[in-house]
Amino acid sequence: MREELALHGGMKTAKQPFPPWPQFAERTLSDVLEPLRTGKVASWSGTRGAEFEERWAAWSGAPHAVACSSGTAALHMALVALGIQPGDEVLVPSHTFISSSLAVLHAGAVPVFCDVSDDQTLDPGCLERHATSRSKALIAVHLYGIVCDMDKILQVARRRGLSVVEDCAQCAGGEHHGRKAGMLGDVGCFSFSQGKHVSTGGEGGMVVTALPEVASACRSLRDYGREHEGSGPAAHVRVGFNYRLTEMQSVIGLNELARLDSWNLPRRLGFAKIYDHAFSQLYGIRCLPFTAPDRRNAYWKYPLQLDLEKLACDPREIREAVVAEGIPDAGSCWPESYEEPVFAGRETVRCPNAEAVRRRTLVLALPPTWEKSHVETCVAAVRKVLHAYRR
Ligand SMILES: Cc1ncc(COP(=O)(O)O)c(C=O)c1O
Repeated sequence: MREELALHGGMKTAKQPFPPWPQFAERTLSDVLEPLRTGKVASWSGTRGAEFEERWAAWSGAPHAVACSSGTAALHMALVALGIQPGDEVLVPSHTFISSSLAVLHAGAVPVFCDVSDDQTLDPGCLERHATSRSKALIAVHLYGIVCDMDKILQVARRRGLSVVEDCAQCAGGEHHGRKAGMLGDVGCFSFSQGKHVSTGGEGGMVVTALPEVASACRSLRDYGREHEGSGPAAHVRVGFNYRLTEMQSVIGLNELARLDSWNLPRRLGFAKIYDHAFSQLYGIRCLPFTAPDRRNAYWKYPLQLDLEKLACDPREIREAVVAEGIPDAGSCWPESYEEPVFAGRETVRCPNAEAVRRRTLVLALPPTWEKSHVETCVAAVRKVLHAYRR
């Protein structure tokens, strides 16, 4: 018996609303007032910015962390600090949010789009094929929390002499052979925008690195190109930006970081196990989000890949049907970056595997504010929808 879908007038699976994400730590509601009371609201006047950097560095296992205003700013600074020049080529997946390649354009360089493997992350073989003598860096994007195949990516990078930037905007807490994502290449870049693992109240970012010269260049770049913090008014040595984080944002970040390992990540990993168990044998599922002991997924989202040959409808209809069941829309996949109007007229290659993976992916949420029952409701809705459309 096929139950009538809510999309077609049937009863919704979800009877209650779902808790939203982000929800800030309770103490933040009072802590955030401290800089406002003292008037020390900028990182150069207060102490919370430096404290946030120190704690983030310790958490990531990084000798240096530089806070900044967004993930895009972090990527931009990383590329400039690594010495990427106008005209250089940077290898980057198209299968990601557009910021990964916009940062390349901000640096004046040329993004060369590479395809992804079935696990949604950069295909090392494609990197090798697209690298030329003009290629200077690659950006490994740990999409949805899935850690890239860094062993193979680093091999290509070494062979080709490429700098490696990790885009960890969606992967705070992913691990590769026990090391944190962000510390696997030369520079790791995090985003703290609304909805990420850690949000600093809407916007924010962080660069981590073991390279002191890169850290020092990033500190300068985020601060109008000042030679070093504390240098006098006429000490601007490069074309810098204002990419600074405020003290209020750092306070929020500190409190979110304090519960990242004790609450946020364990809940995400626990919810992912429930999804994995429910979907591993389900008709209409092609594969679960990739994770392995040596590539630990940080589960920002849960991108489930459907077996479209077994389903009698367009994948868009499946997404609509799941949302109509009362399930929060976890955001559909972004278009391939080269399909965005900003890239119109530029010479680019297509990435067929990325397009196929995107078409068959259904994204589910698993924020730490949910309870097991919310995850189970999502499972029930997906089961109902896939059953309704089975061939
Ligand atoms: C993969 C990826 N890279 C970079 C960014 C940019 O981060 P921000 O929005 O903080 O600039 C995002 C943001 O959503 C992202 O998802």
